[in-house]
Amino acid sequence: MYYSDEIIEEVRSRNDIVDVISAYVKLQKKGSSYFGLCPFHNERSPSFSVSREKQMYYCFGCGAGGNVFTFLMEYENYSFVEALRYLADRAGIDLPEREYSDEERRRADLKAVLLEIQKTAAQYYYVQLKSPQGNAALSYLKDRKLSDDTIKAFGLGYSNKYSDSLYRFLKTRGYNDETLVKSGLITVDEKRGPYDKFWNRVMFPIMDANNRVIGFGGRVMGEGKPKYLNSPETMIFDKSRNLYGLNRARSSRKNYFLLCEGYMDVISLHQSGYTNAVASLGTALTSGHASLIRRYVQEVYLTYDSDEAGTKAALRAIPILKEAGIQAKVIRMEPYKDPDEFIKNLGADAFEERIQKAGNGFMFSLQVLEQEYDMKSPEGRTGFMREAARRLTLFEEEIERNNYIEAVAEAYHVGYEELRRLVGKVAVQNGLAKPIEKPKSLRRREKEDGILQSQKILLTWMVSSDKVFGQIEKYISPEDFTDGIYREVAGLLYQQRKEGEIQPARIMNAFTDEEEHREVAGLFHTRIKELTSLREEEKALKETVIRVKTHSIDEAARMLDPTDMAGLQRLMETKRELQKLHELHISIN
Ligand code: CTP
Ligand code: MN
Repeated sequence: MYYSDEIIEEVRSRNDIVDVISAYVKLQKKGSSYFGLCPFHNERSPSFSVSREKQMYYCFGCGAGGNVFTFLMEYENYSFVEALRYLADRAGIDLPEREYSDEERRRADLKAVLLEIQKTAAQYYYVQLKSPQGNAALSYLKDRKLSDDTIKAFGLGYSNKYSDSLYRFLKTRGYNDETLVKSGLITVDEKRGPYDKFWNRVMFPIMDANNRVIGFGGRVMGEGKPKYLNSPETMIFDKSRNLYGLNRARSSRKNYFLLCEGYMDVISLHQSGYTNAVASLGTALTSGHASLIRRYVQEVYLTYDSDEAGTKAALRAIPILKEAGIQAKVIRMEPYKDPDEFIKNLGADAFEERIQKAGNGFMFSLQVLEQEYDMKSPEGRTGFMREAARRLTLFEEEIERNNYIEAVAEAYHVGYEELRRLVGKVAVQNGLAKPIEKPKSLRRREKEDGILQSQKILLTWMVSSDKVFGQIEKYISPEDFTDGIYREVAGLLYQQRKEGEIQPARIMNAFTDEEEHREVAGLFHTRIKELTSLREEEKALKETVIRVKTHSIDEAARMLDPTDMAGLQRLMETKRELQKLHELHISIN
């Protein structure tokens, strides 16, 4: 990005966000905002809001949000510069010649170049597949029952037999070796010189949620090792934060995802109409994947391989999903290994039946457990029930625990009351009569989440009401916010206020990344609980101020060097100030 803050801001302020978004989304005025159906996730009632005052949009359903640039980056898959050019054009502004870049801008630019290289490579591989040297690869894909439409939709390709043909092609496009190495597609060997990472493989481009190619998987045709070779992680390719197929699955009409293991599984599911299939990229599911999924759906059907490794992977994935607030169910595919084989043999309708029959994740883990016991003998069954009871004690919430006890009792033909007593007994034996304590780190994390939430509420309040900002300003300064994006945003807000006008959408110009835009938009759109009276609202605001300040003082005390007398004095002073805060009255209207 080579443009100055001034020009970026001029382009932004001359494109009203409501006008721009109206061209894509049907908006209706409700109060001070406009609402419509969110274009970034599936929904039936509108939770996508656009504010003319803030010049920002935010979806209360999926958390998508940002300013007018972000919208085009997300909707049209534009890079920042593309969005800037488009909007400058729309407003009739001539962009100046490129200016000099600093280190940060070089980085943003390198990202753009790396994306361009991946896209160019994908096009190259596709052309190879469709040319005579791609014959064998094309028939391999046809043998695997992929249609031309599917091949095109997923942009499949072929890396030919020469070990440096992509390298030579990219060189004709003017990229230097250093950048090519950073793309992960080229290796430079001291003796051999530069050569391609992939050759003689069928290529699967990996795209991010916005349809940008960020890496590749390559499969040998037939037998051979390794079966798949994948791009290494690069500046633009983070395996634990991307899912294969998400770019298409995000706009499927279903309210759950089918989560599978492999590229081919995703592709054959999509080809059979299951356009909500995604896969983690040859790695175990991470919490990063889970929170990515949670942006789009609340339920996941696991369709991992039915072998031992797949079962283990499913058992590991279930708690990770649960932690992110996603319900997991497990689809059984026996006697077939994976969805691809299942569909090839039994067809898409039979798969639908398996979806209907999918069992809950916990019950699935018991089915796996059964295999460790001789369920025909009394001892075996007793041992199994004891272990099942122990696992039931792990549900902290009584209602949930009882629901599961009921389900287990029914599935294994034992009395509900008996099982409940057994669960109680096992709990006592294991010293778990009280709900188990959460590990410390988890509790600390919850507390930190709470503080961040309070800070967000404060920021939302500050951008929504000048009057509130004026009163808060006396007690809270940017340093009271948690280091990182919170503090940075608060600093920019205070500065804007000093200069006379709050413009939340302008603050985003300081961030180049869509993820950051989303986060900043979230800071300004915290949902504040509906309170019944003004008094209550004022009380809540005051408590939030105290909470944020107290936390900040505690943190300062924690960091203070005990020999720093002046620091200690200042701290005492702030503490006294805090006391006064309790008597404070903040008025909202
Ligand atoms: N995988 C990988 N590297 C390997 C083997 C597997 O990255 N050497 C990843 C790939 O993403 C692959 C997934 O793990 O899609 C599942 O592996 P597997 O079940 O072995 O392959 P399938 O997807 O079933 O592939 P195919 O049907 O082509 O045999
Ligand atoms: Mn397979």
